[in-house]
Amino acid sequence: MEQNSTSEATFHDATSESLLPQDHPLRRAGAAGGTADAPLIRRYRGQVTDAPPSVWFMRQAGRSLPEYRAAREGTAMLDACLTPDLVAEITAQPVRRHRVDAGIFFSDIVVPARIAGLAVEIVPGRGPVFDHPVRTEADIDALPVLDEHLDAALAPIREAVALTVGELGTTPLIGFCGAPFTVASYMVEGGPSRDHLRTRALMRDRPDLWARLAAWVAELSGRFLRAQVLAGASAVQLFDSWVGSLSEEIYREHVIDHSRALLGAVADLPVPRVHFGVGTGHLLPAMHDAGATVVGVDHRIRLDHAVDLLGPGVPVQGNIDPAVLFTGAGPREAEALSVLAAGAAAPGHVVNLGHGVPPETDAAVLTDLVAFLHEQPAPRATGALPVADAPAAPAEAARA
Ligand code: CP3
Repeated sequence: MEQNSTSEATFHDATSESLLPQDHPLRRAGAAGGTADAPLIRRYRGQVTDAPPSVWFMRQAGRSLPEYRAAREGTAMLDACLTPDLVAEITAQPVRRHRVDAGIFFSDIVVPARIAGLAVEIVPGRGPVFDHPVRTEADIDALPVLDEHLDAALAPIREAVALTVGELGTTPLIGFCGAPFTVASYMVEGGPSRDHLRTRALMRDRPDLWARLAAWVAELSGRFLRAQVLAGASAVQLFDSWVGSLSEEIYREHVIDHSRALLGAVADLPVPRVHFGVGTGHLLPAMHDAGATVVGVDHRIRLDHAVDLLGPGVPVQGNIDPAVLFTGAGPREAEALSVLAAGAAAPGHVVNLGHGVPPETDAAVLTDLVAFLHEQPAPRATGALPVADAPAAPAEAARA
């Protein structure tokens, strides 16, 4: 592993950094208005930092915020996601209000499908619904071809990211996309599903068709993700929200290669790659093997246990039980401290919830929780590497 031994060393080498545009936030330190040394990025890279704990929340932008409800009024969700100035405003809202340590790009896991030309809507209170479920060979043959038109159609995403990072300044923007299993399951089921039976049946019955569909999603989402990074995102998160419904055996047989291909779309770039799913205690090592550099953990498993399962050297993110957003301050703060203590077992830990912010959350509770976390001393990440020994980019790139 190549490593720059100066005290200013960052984990990436000049080669991968040079793939980012000159004005990318990761190419400048905070003092110069960039994100290269932001504590959250250092923690994702397993590097030591003296900063107080870093925190952001999945679904921090959204219905828990009155300013979000006002901004969204009269605009359908997916239309909002393709309106760059609205995206920048909504992404910045929770950063301004709660002082979280990252913005998460305001979009949705089905936005790429809409951009590619599929008829999909997000039905309030329900979730993504596709007009034409994709179940047969003919359905898969009819999927849009992902050619250079897609790059042109991604223009609103690039523009939205550029506006957002201008708004966020030294606060990193996390780009994201949905993983092949979770996105394909919406396509196959036609909408939200409790047990993803049709999708899991397709995998076993017609593994050839499943592989074509998953590869299509991986290509599409991978291009959506790469566009976000090149336009200014400093890290990425791959959401495989519903993959916890699979056994590790089925995951490794039918899913991991597609998730790996998707993460490979940004693996040459010096951005941390977080991978998260719900109910994935049994899949954490496999999700790391899919090419993640950070593993997101839900609230059903303790972080120190997750670290044991993952083995040394893997930074983690998580995993405050969202239920404590609805308790008094006592249980909430006890949970936050317990998560910090357990997360210290990893080389780096970024605090998050175990799943997204519920829409009915009182925004003031989130603001107070962030302030409480920021009052805590820097956790002593016991698995952290000295700066000069932090993982270098060549090892990262080798996963591509
Ligand atoms: O702060 C953020 O996290 C903002 C960006 C974001 C959204 N969706 C905005 C959104 C992200 C990262 C997502 C990802 C997403 N979308 C996932 C993976 C994360 C997870 O929750 O596990 C999934 C499964 C989806 C699909 C989806 N989109 C669902 C299930 C829903 C909820 C439908 C409802 O109304 O209850 C959506 C809609 C959605 N995505 C909203 C937001 C802010 C609500 C839309 C609204 O305000 O009407």
